[in-house]
Amino acid sequence: MHIVPGLKVLYFGTPVVLLTTRNEDGSTNMAPMSSAWWLGQTAVLGLGDSSQTSENLRREGECVLNLATAALVDGVDRIALTTARETIAQYRREQGYRHVADKFALAGFTEQPSELVAPGRVAECPIQLECRLAAVHPIDRNDLNCTVFEVDVLRTHVEESLVIPGTHYVDPDAWDPLIMKFCEFYAGGESIHPSRLAAGWQMPHAQPAAA
Ligand SMILES: Cc1cc2nc3c(=O)[nH]c(=O)nc-3n(C[C@H](O)[C@H](O)[C@H](O)COP(=O)(O)O)c2cc1C
Repeated sequence: MHIVPGLKVLYFGTPVVLLTTRNEDGSTNMAPMSSAWWLGQTAVLGLGDSSQTSENLRREGECVLNLATAALVDGVDRIALTTARETIAQYRREQGYRHVADKFALAGFTEQPSELVAPGRVAECPIQLECRLAAVHPIDRNDLNCTVFEVDVLRTHVEESLVIPGTHYVDPDAWDPLIMKFCEFYAGGESIHPSRLAAGWQMPHAQPAAA
């Protein structure tokens, strides 16, 4: 039997991407995001307009999509409620957001230079996609204040052990993405780590105990 619960959140489960963009001072900003999907060699990204990442991507026209695995969940969670912005809207402060200039240091991740774009890559991510902005679609209905960015993949870096030998394909058995499902972290179908994002959004779900 179906019911009509009036769902408040429609985040059914998508991979966690650490999106890197170039700040105005030339440093690399890194933000977790998961409204991302791919068609051919194009990625489509949904970003809130209040993020530094959104501003950087519009200004610089370049980014790197660094795909996270379960092994990185602790670092991802540490930067979950942080922003490179110095001015933070009141509603975001109430969710727990704070300013952090160096999110690589907070997460314990390493910046690695890119080959074709200015923002650096996240060395710990086994899949990294260097991208150039192709189109921008603002969404300003329903108080959303979001933008959909189309980015073209220029170069894909993949950890060798994930590639099916002798092919141009990732082995789906070897690749286990970190998934954000209703603001919680999942991998291999299991809930794997407490989520600051879920706490900030006051999601009604029992979180796994901290390790
Ligand atoms: C797992 C996870 C997924 C997220 N997904 C998105 C997303 O798809 N789009 C978005 O705009 N923000 C998303 N966020 C929130 C951003 O990380 C947040 O807006 C952050 O402030 C951006 O950092 P910045 O302001 O330095 O760019 C997500 C956060 C987490 C922890």
